[in-house]
Amino acid sequence: MRHLLSTKDLSRDAAIEILDIAEDMADVQQREVKKLPTLRGKTVVNLFFEDSTRTRISFEAAAKRLSADVINFSAKGSSVSKGESLKDTAQTLAAIGADGVVIRHGASGAPAVLAASGWIDAGIINAGDGTHEHPTQALLDAFTIRRRLHPGASRGRDLDGVTVTIVGDILHSRVARSNVWLLSALGASVHLVAPPTLVPVHTTAWPATIGYDLDAAIDAAPDVVMMLRIQAERMNAAFFPNSREYSRTWGLDDDRFRRLAPSSIVMHPGPMNRGLEISSAAADSAQSTVLEQVANGVSVRMAALYVLLSGEREVAR
Ligand code: CP
Repeated sequence: MRHLLSTKDLSRDAAIEILDIAEDMADVQQREVKKLPTLRGKTVVNLFFEDSTRTRISFEAAAKRLSADVINFSAKGSSVSKGESLKDTAQTLAAIGADGVVIRHGASGAPAVLAASGWIDAGIINAGDGTHEHPTQALLDAFTIRRRLHPGASRGRDLDGVTVTIVGDILHSRVARSNVWLLSALGASVHLVAPPTLVPVHTTAWPATIGYDLDAAIDAAPDVVMMLRIQAERMNAAFFPNSREYSRTWGLDDDRFRRLAPSSIVMHPGPMNRGLEISSAAADSAQSTVLEQVANGVSVRMAALYVLLSGEREVAR
């Protein structure tokens, strides 16, 4: 695998291979020395044109734990603010010898453009592009689900028979898109619940069912309830829902959380709007995997960098 641009491109077996390598990386992080020498001499650039906390710092931790040199690039404070193009930025990174580029960009498709451009000869990882995809988020979500459902015995498993309900702002969510493709490729049944105004028009082509009744979805006791952030920054003010109304109809509030099956996992990719799409009682509960998702993100991103930049398929133990 040369680039990781989308989960739509990932087969069941390729996804399981990355998740199993991430299990090995999680084992490495239990050691006293949490590092592997695999990417010594390689340079990874975190090229972020949009804000990030979790993705950027976990890619930085992942690359350092594989002994790579890491360069963090933020569009704010760079020559991008003077109008420099993606092409010139990429060629600048090529000139300093980047082997891997982790790119987050507001334009859907920017990572694919970079991968196909010839401006830079590097492995490209999509760290979130517009409303299109966020493949490593979906991989860490699948990894988290697998570990919760099969503690200590998740290696090699897919998600056959697992029911996942994804709730909220599907329209703007690259996390939802990547999860729909990946979780369904792994055998899960994916159900989307959202206000009609926040459902993209092309979801009929997605491997997922769509509903508009969160209470019915909660009463169906899915294995996983994944709440999405309302992405106010991508919305025209006229379309921004009334917060109280949104929370009452589409939020995992305290009442719905109490009705949720005790075995159901509560997920959120972060950052959370507490009190809007998710209550603190739900987010901070034992059923919540929010912080596990962040921790697992380091293992999964180590696996992605390892597969792309080392060319190896197994981790030397
Ligand atoms: N989940 C996620 O992508 O979070 P950040 O925007 O903080 O990276």
